[in-house]
Amino acid sequence: IRHDPTEVGEYIGQYIAKRINDFAPTAERPFVLGLPTGSSPIPTYQTIIRLVKEGKLSFKNVVTFNMDEYVGLPQDHPESYHSFMFRELFSQIDIQPENVHILNGNAPDLVAECNDYEARIKAYGGIELFLGGIGEDGHIAFNEPGSSLQSRTRIKTLAYDTILANARFFNNDISAVPRMALTVGVQTVLESKEVVIVVTGQRKAEGLNHLWTLSALQTHPWALIVADEDATLEL
Ligand code: GLP
Repeated sequence: IRHDPTEVGEYIGQYIAKRINDFAPTAERPFVLGLPTGSSPIPTYQTIIRLVKEGKLSFKNVVTFNMDEYVGLPQDHPESYHSFMFRELFSQIDIQPENVHILNGNAPDLVAECNDYEARIKAYGGIELFLGGIGEDGHIAFNEPGSSLQSRTRIKTLAYDTILANARFFNNDISAVPRMALTVGVQTVLESKEVVIVVTGQRKAEGLNHLWTLSALQTHPWALIVADEDATLEL
């Protein structure tokens, strides 16, 4: 726990730099880093940019995979996650553009795009460190409440609360917020060697606090839930 978002960003930025430097990546053995968008990681990205400018960190042999992308939003729209990542981080560090992986929300075959993304992650031997943020409803990437803990990269319809929360990036126009996104799955995140989550601000307090003990059953290989119809009303 750190005092405020700036201190959290300083801590995580320094932490990621140390992990990359200790790993000593090369072209043959790159450091594979998973990255999020949102306002929460911005102080972290600022720390990373500063460390790169000071010559204390290099992204030359770092490969990145982003968590998610809106479906149907043009890639050059200022609020696409492509635009966000290049504006807030990639254009300011020494990463090689071919090492950047972001889901294509305009791919002609979205299912194939998701499967290919998983295959690309596997081809690199998995993700070394996945940095993530959380939504107010506790989502990671765009894995809304109810997402299977076993889920993989796929198309998700956004929860209404998420559309409301993200309207601030679209001039508060709810109708301008895309309804669907491509997102890595919960299992995709869980399979990475290390996961670092940034949570700042009172808005996230509930998301950080909520734990449904029953969800642990999702990780059991042979679990049976028997419900009556009334109990399924929120599914
Ligand atoms: C979006 C992203 C999430 C992110 C969340 C929180 O829903 N898909 O990956 O964690 O926003 O954003 P913020 O950090 O701006 O609160």
